[in-house]
Amino acid sequence: MKRMIYLDNAATSWPKPESVYHEVGDFLRRAGANPGRGGHALARAASEMVESVRKDLAHFFNITDASQFVFTANATEALNLAIKGVLAKGGHVVTSSMEHNAVARPLFALQAAGSCQVSVVQADHEGMLKVDDVIKAVGPETRLIVLTHASNVTGGLLPIEEVGEFARQRGITFLVDASQTVGERPLDLNKLPVDLVAFPGHKALLGPTGIGALYIRKGCELEPLLQGGTGTHSELLEQPSEVPYRYESGTLNTSGIAGLGAALRYISEVGLEQISATIRELTRSFLEGCAQIPGLRILGPSSAEMRVGVVSIVADFLNPDELGYILDQVYGIAVRAGLHCAPLAHKTLGTFPAGAVRFSFSHFNTAEDVQQALQALREIAEQAGGY
Ligand code: ALA
Repeated sequence: MKRMIYLDNAATSWPKPESVYHEVGDFLRRAGANPGRGGHALARAASEMVESVRKDLAHFFNITDASQFVFTANATEALNLAIKGVLAKGGHVVTSSMEHNAVARPLFALQAAGSCQVSVVQADHEGMLKVDDVIKAVGPETRLIVLTHASNVTGGLLPIEEVGEFARQRGITFLVDASQTVGERPLDLNKLPVDLVAFPGHKALLGPTGIGALYIRKGCELEPLLQGGTGTHSELLEQPSEVPYRYESGTLNTSGIAGLGAALRYISEVGLEQISATIRELTRSFLEGCAQIPGLRILGPSSAEMRVGVVSIVADFLNPDELGYILDQVYGIAVRAGLHCAPLAHKTLGTFPAGAVRFSFSHFNTAEDVQQALQALREIAEQAGGY
């Protein structure tokens, strides 16, 4: 069978490091009990593993107090916890037109229920956002600003540092959706002016699906999304106050956490700088190649420096679904076509409702993968467009 070229790493990274596959199975065999529930040896071993991965995660972001990291099922759950936790008493929220539905839907659901007012700041036709436009949208009632760090459609980076500085001066909580950057770009949470950062473990962090996390800066208090068993203060009928357990009701995805731990060790061995540089080079060469193919429009910023390893294109000779289908069926190239759960972003870019075809890279991809994808696009363009 022809080797598959996987260029859908913005949906989830694949393959994972070998050590991740190994660790998930090994943990379940070795210590697959319930952490924090019972004092026996297996439960203690599971708790030790969870707390040790929490520490590794904190270290990865240059944070000393690991209790500021709450494990969730994915970035969507982390974003829901942050958004609903901050807006429990209502208020005004400012967000951008480049957000994923994981941000937009909880915000619009709260607004529909009369619990908050949402202002969406319009990005330009390349998906870039002006800090001044965010500042103009803020008013006396603004309680929260939510921005994606990088668009999952264009890969374009948003100005979170500048917005964060402004939010801090004004005492407004700042939430960043770092789904597309964590594991690809270094994020020093000790320095960045952010209060809440939501991210998945399964994208550039290279862990298994089903695990994500929310960073909650000290002093930032949220209403929990769920109430239930935390393994602590079982005598209480109220949710306990101690973090991170206050926000972690129910049995954790321990095998996912174990796999994430292995992924963090792998990233530290290879080096985040190295990973970042490899992805940037693949992205740069794909952008250059696409720019030479007639009939293709590249969405987002033209330079690889201004984006993560995500490139979406639209072709004037074929609709996105057909192009994605041909890439898969004829060339064995896995991409994601359509709206990428980000209809607001596609409206901003002028690609709604058909969407675009998204190519996204990991450091496991090679220069040869990029050349094969470009060759496939050239051939399809020639056949479909008669160039
Ligand atoms: N949010 C993921 C994507 O952009 C699944 O494909």
